Amino acid sequence: MDDPDCDPRALAATYRRFGLVNRLVSAWGHVYRSRVRPELRALGRPARVLDLGCGGGDVVVRLATLAARDGLDVEWVGADPDPRAFEAARERERPGVRFVAQGSRALIDAGECFDLVLSNHVLHHLDAGALQQFADDSLTLSRGPVLHADIARGRLAYALYAVGIAPLSAGTFLRVDGLRSIRRSHRAPELAEALGSPWRVETPAPFRVLAVARGRADA
Ligand SMILES: C[S@@+](CC[C@H](N)C(=O)[O-])C[C@H]1O[C@@H](n2cnc3c(N)ncnc32)[C@H](O)[C@@H]1O
Repeated sequence: MDDPDCDPRALAATYRRFGLVNRLVSAWGHVYRSRVRPELRALGRPARVLDLGCGGGDVVVRLATLAARDGLDVEWVGADPDPRAFEAARERERPGVRFVAQGSRALIDAGECFDLVLSNHVLHHLDAGALQQFADDSLTLSRGPVLHADIARGRLAYALYAVGIAPLSAGTFLRVDGLRSIRRSHRAPELAEALGSPWRVETPAPFRVLAVARGRADA
């Protein structure tokens, strides 16, 4: 799906199916309960949250649903500069959740600022320079926590994904791209070294890493 000329039908099916796959593998339910919800509650006012590199938008929609159930007043924004992702995400738009076809630099240039910035499965797509820039941009955009969730590379993760994705992958790029993503991803110590200060890298669930830092928008 990184290929700009890839089959648009398979791409659309892949974005749709991410709703289920991210739910199964991404551990955002846990991260929402342990980090996002307490932070938003403590604000004691309406919040703005950004999903940076939101792809098809399923993660931000899921978080919005969880927060609405908890009675939290949040404006959710999903941002992705890839127009194909934007088109897919727009199908998931709903009250309180908005999508923009912008990358981190454009958001900074527009003077945007959020109470929490997060991402899912973006870091492993970036080379060393782009990773530093993306991480730094995310700190500029947040006056609160920044949470970047990703896959932790490992043989077991690879083997389990290869088997588990089989019933879900027909007509999509989920198998080929998912296995490539696992190969490209970091182990926690590697990600900590690649990001450097002020990042801390945690392992919130099996086969997952979570890079955590405090944004500097209010500093
Ligand atoms: C593999 S996709 C992840 C999509 C989605 N978060 C998910 O979990 O399914 C990575 C996305 O990050 C986006 N991206 C890369 N650099 C970015 C940046 N600087 N700002 C915003 N999005 C970026 C890409 O366009 C791509 O759609």
